[in-house]
Amino acid sequence: MPKAVKSPAMNDTATLQNGQDAAPTPLDGAAKRYFVKTYGCQMNVYDSQRMSDALTEDGYSETTDVQDADLILLNTCHIREKAAEKVYSAVGRLRELKADRASAGKETMIAIAGCVAQAEGAEILRRAPAVDLVIGPQTYHRLPDAVRRARAGEKVVETDYAVEDKFDHLPSPKASVTRSRGVTAFLTVQEGCDKFCTFCVVPYTRGSEVSRPVSRIVAEAERLAASGVRELTLLGQNVNAWHGVGEDGREWGLGALLFRLAEIPGIARLRYTTSHPRDMDDALIAAHRDLPALMPYLHLPVQSGSDLILKRMNRRHTAADYLRLVERIRSARPDIAMSGDFIVGFPGETDADFDATMKLIDDVGYAAAYSFKYSPRPGTPGADMDDHVPEAVKDERLQRLQALLSRQQADFVTSLTGRDVDVLIDKPGRQAGQIVGRSPWLQPVIIDEKAAEIGDIVTVRIMRTGYNTLYSTPD
Ligand code: 5AD
Ligand code: SF4
Repeated sequence: MPKAVKSPAMNDTATLQNGQDAAPTPLDGAAKRYFVKTYGCQMNVYDSQRMSDALTEDGYSETTDVQDADLILLNTCHIREKAAEKVYSAVGRLRELKADRASAGKETMIAIAGCVAQAEGAEILRRAPAVDLVIGPQTYHRLPDAVRRARAGEKVVETDYAVEDKFDHLPSPKASVTRSRGVTAFLTVQEGCDKFCTFCVVPYTRGSEVSRPVSRIVAEAERLAASGVRELTLLGQNVNAWHGVGEDGREWGLGALLFRLAEIPGIARLRYTTSHPRDMDDALIAAHRDLPALMPYLHLPVQSGSDLILKRMNRRHTAADYLRLVERIRSARPDIAMSGDFIVGFPGETDADFDATMKLIDDVGYAAAYSFKYSPRPGTPGADMDDHVPEAVKDERLQRLQALLSRQQADFVTSLTGRDVDVLIDKPGRQAGQIVGRSPWLQPVIIDEKAAEIGDIVTVRIMRTGYNTLYSTPD
């Protein structure tokens, strides 16, 4: 795993999905349980929730104890190095569990979903015979059927790019399920990417760009709002390339969609991630100026500050283009906090190229950022380029870059001391008497329990700050 700060876009953490409260329907005489583990980006988190909904509708109930699961689902990520190897070693551990359960007369299906499934396909069955089913991100609506076929003894591989839209076939998120998931929710509006940055596997694993239609997005947002969701984060690999025919018959971009979603009663906050600089159009920038519900936080990856490297990465913009864009966004919304992704050690990166990245970071001033050592992904043009950078140089550059970004993040957080900040309350605190909310810039805010309830948006004064936490409570 590359040394990396966690990314909200594509991180290396595993997330457990839980909080299921729908009653299971007996299946084959006994309720079946599934366990799901999610790796990678928020899109995978969203997909895991929708797969959970599909399994629930099929009579399964969720367990957070893997030992207890009749179906184990790993939703995998392929964005950086050794992803496939990690999946194989996880399956190695599960093979023993499967054998133990088999000797107790219990069946265990192992399913691999996500981008490793898409990239490796049938190879997974060959290398890891304990796996019963491999399913790629475009075919999740076929999951219940695939599980049935696997249980009947078939080794199933579903990695086609389906002609039908998976979201049209997956059940809608259930109110009971979404409520237990809290006051913030993800909503995928776009999938896939046509940009073909030369380091990136996404165009290969997630396919070409597809935008979900306005009516489906609005209907899902309304259902989420009805179940208590107050903050929506619109997801897409290239979310600001989203477009569709609006309710007025005109072509809408993401800006128009955001305005429409802000009209839904209950929806108070909107965010979107992840964007490409080339798709920040005027209407979207205007939404940052005119739409109070749109939070003043923007994740806008740049990857490098060197024009030469940007060209080799096929980013199709220069450092100056990016800086001008940030300036336009800031003049629309002066309090916006910028976040970004950076890659160090892309093939051919010299000290001067790296210095240009450090200079760009200085010029922009980031409130948060995610940085990675370049990791060659088989099948991408970057992997075949000359002049790969030695690991030790990548390590050293990453350390310097992260030190600068951490200083900027600390400066941003401490600058909030003494300010009045709107906070969406989303969960009980760890300490008695406290509850926790989120600032407009995504930091957790610790608040006196008596001041508000979950789902409220309250204005509190920030008394002090921690590493990435804001406190409205005295010491
Ligand atoms: N090596 C290192 N980082 C990568 N990312 C994507 N592909 C690679 C790779 N091959 C990073 C980019 C992207 C983020 C989601 O992950 O910074 O924006
Ligand atoms: Fe990958 Fe580039 Fe597409 Fe982002 S824009 S998903 S980095 S190819």
